[in-house]
Amino acid sequence: MKPTFLLAASLAATAAAALAAPLDGAFGPIERPAAPEFDDDAAATTELRRRTMQAASGHFRALDAILRGDAPQKEQVTLHAEALAAIAADLDTVFAAETPHAEGALGASPRIWDEPESFERHLDGFRDATADLAAAAAAGRSDGEDLLAARYQCLACHQEMRTR
Ligand code: HEC
Repeated sequence: MKPTFLLAASLAATAAAALAAPLDGAFGPIERPAAPEFDDDAAATTELRRRTMQAASGHFRALDAILRGDAPQKEQVTLHAEALAAIAADLDTVFAAETPHAEGALGASPRIWDEPESFERHLDGFRDATADLAAAAAAGRSDGEDLLAARYQCLACHQEMRTR
């Protein structure tokens, strides 16, 4: 074997060992979590879109606990309202590439790409409602109605642009 080949092989082996190594830190080694694996870009895009939605859902639900459920941590409202507005501001990126939709499957409706102007209205509505929510939070005057105005946009888009 040529020396350059041996060097490449040993570098690859070192990289593989590093990838398999447990996480290490002050609390001792912990098993390394598996990386997500996707068959292709469309599968990766779909999964990223769903995880982005789950992130939006987490922020919405935290806000709901405070603004309508009266959890006492009122100072957390700004954090979650700003995160939701940031997700909304950038939401078009996870819908930019059309992904396949099998007949009868759950998920993103082909209408998103067949009727881009309708979809754009949903994106705009969601962006505006969450920007209003974040502005009200920054001014210390957000309430359950601001949150429900944003929630309306979630539900309207799901009703029109998501199959279930
Ligand atoms: C502009 C349209 C639109 C808006 C606004 C929107 N969603 Fe979605 N949402 C979708 C579409 C489309 C899907 C299906 C995505 C897919 O399966 O590829 C989806 C999927 C979801 C899912 C399922 C994710 C999964 O794991 O399959 C959740 C949860 C969700 N949305 C929550 C929310 C919440 C909460 C809001 C508002 C704070 C919101 N969405 C706003 C379009 C939207």
